[in-house]
Amino acid sequence: MTKVRNALNLALNYSNIFCRSLLLLWTTAPRETIFLAIALLLQGLIPSVAIWINKQVVDTVATILSSGSSYNFWTVTSLVAGWVVAIFLESLLPPWVEAASINFGEKLTAQIHLQLMRKADSFVDLIPFEDSRFYDELQLLQQQADDEPRTLLFIMSEFLPALFTVTTMLLLLCPLAWWIPLLILIASVPQPYVSCKIEWHIWETMSNKSLQARQMQYYSSVMLTDTYAKEVRLFGLGSLFTQRYLQAFQDKYQAMHSLRGKQAFSLTGLSVLSASGNAFAFFWVVLQALGGKLTPGSVLLFIQSLAYTQQNLSYLMRSSVIFQRTVLFMERFFNFLESKPTMSVYIPASPVPAPLKSGITFENVDFTYPDGRVALTGVSFTLHPGETVALVGENGAGKTTLVKLLARFYDPTQGNIFVDGKNLKNLDIQAWRRQIAVVFQDFCRYSLSIGENIALGNLAAINDLEQLKRAANKSGIAQKVERFPEGYFTLLGKQFDGTELSGGEWQKLALARAFVREENSQILILDEPTAALDPRSEYEIYRSFSELVRGKTAILVTHRLASVRMADRILVLKAGKLIEVGTHEELLQKRGEYATLWSMQADQYRNEVIE
Ligand SMILES: Nc1ncnc2c1ncn2[C@@H]1O[C@H](COP(=O)(O)OP(=O)(O)OP(=O)(O)O)[C@@H](O)[C@H]1O
Ligand SMILES: [Mg+2]
Repeated sequence: MTKVRNALNLALNYSNIFCRSLLLLWTTAPRETIFLAIALLLQGLIPSVAIWINKQVVDTVATILSSGSSYNFWTVTSLVAGWVVAIFLESLLPPWVEAASINFGEKLTAQIHLQLMRKADSFVDLIPFEDSRFYDELQLLQQQADDEPRTLLFIMSEFLPALFTVTTMLLLLCPLAWWIPLLILIASVPQPYVSCKIEWHIWETMSNKSLQARQMQYYSSVMLTDTYAKEVRLFGLGSLFTQRYLQAFQDKYQAMHSLRGKQAFSLTGLSVLSASGNAFAFFWVVLQALGGKLTPGSVLLFIQSLAYTQQNLSYLMRSSVIFQRTVLFMERFFNFLESKPTMSVYIPASPVPAPLKSGITFENVDFTYPDGRVALTGVSFTLHPGETVALVGENGAGKTTLVKLLARFYDPTQGNIFVDGKNLKNLDIQAWRRQIAVVFQDFCRYSLSIGENIALGNLAAINDLEQLKRAANKSGIAQKVERFPEGYFTLLGKQFDGTELSGGEWQKLALARAFVREENSQILILDEPTAALDPRSEYEIYRSFSELVRGKTAILVTHRLASVRMADRILVLKAGKLIEVGTHEELLQKRGEYATLWSMQADQYRNEVIE
């Protein structure tokens, strides 16, 4: 009983996904959908029409030969004409169906990628990208989105005609004896059924092994991409990564290998069953014809129908196996589209205070990453409007995390962040982010032109060369850009044959990105903005720092303590706790953590000067 209920639920689920997939096809390309529906229906019916005509022709000829009577010219002519049309259509349709389904497949693949991208973009926080289950799922969908939609169409253009052909063939066989189509079905159906079941296990195993698949991809990309080429050679990492690749492969392969073996073994056994059923039916038909109970046309009909049924049942089997996998992909895709946001966005959102009056207040803020790592505990401070605050502390102290909370990539696990007394959670998140210009420590390098790399900070400036130049000037990259023949239109990154920049030059571009945004924003955050810069560039940036932060509330995260003296206040973080707050002089007098860090750096410089 439970088995029946489960099977029923499964069938319901499948038909639901199938209908939603059809709807997706329809919304992606309505014209192609109509064309394919008609063409596939015709393709499926033509063999049965042709076989029926064959039977009529053979029977007519046999009757005339045996009785010696004359034939009706128009009947024979229309039968032959019908046959010619059927055969013509049979060869005419496939190339058109194939072309249409390939075009359609490409549209569908693009549509699925677009929907994935839009859905991923709808997550305003970073939690989904840090939840490994969710991330695995997204990676799997992204990888399969290139193949599965095309497979769906390929399968449909095989599955639907095969289904029509098999159904009509079985109907044609009914007049011979009611049990013949039944026998053929009973003998042939277990094969696709078992195959489907095993294929489902293969899919499940493959999904469970997606970690290994991603590892394989990662290890091979480490060996094959330029980013890692230097270290791989220097440290002699080649054999380590090939070994790791092999381990991941073997883990994945073992599981799949045994399942595929099981599949081949059971299919061989079942094909014996199907051959025996067909042989019995064939023998019976021949005996009936010899006894005069069936016409020669019926024997021909049986032989041709059986061949077509067998062939199309195997198409059906093959496509239903792949179809099942595609349906599972579509199910995952639809589930992903329906996944709930991980961060709740308050609606109606409060407008963002501009300009800030009382400032930004962290009140007892705790934050623990989704993987359980505690990054901040009980952090409380106020950032006053127009103030520049330096955030210092050892590696892993929680500085970047604090910045990410401020940009609301995460909500605090405990405590609150207030902006002019309003909880950050209640503000319009997009409007809030427009107020923030930030250079992250792990800034991005886009394979776009230099101008575009800067303009990404403020898309409104994408065609405003003057504004881009101003930002480039501030970050100190302008001179370099002007030396390129194509200036701001120079393409960057090796991916599309662009030019490569040095690490520091990329960092200057990231700074320019923040500065182009900064013209419209109130808060400027620089997380290790000069880590890759040479002393002169660093000096230039900090020399014009007061100019850059004029009228802004700024946070400067840096390990170069010499540069924090220009901040109005310094916040010292240690192991996620805010342990000291004050000006440079106050903190030195306090002789705490900051004073220790300061004297370490000062000693280092002093020693170097003495040496
Ligand atoms: N995405 C993440 N998932 C889990 N833990 C994280 C994540 N990012 C950071 N952490 C952990 O949170 C702690 C604080 O990290 P954070 O990046 O804020 O340090 P930081 O002060 O910016 O250090 P650094 O000076 O090296 O940049 C670290 O212990 C780190 O391991
Ligand atoms: Mg950091």
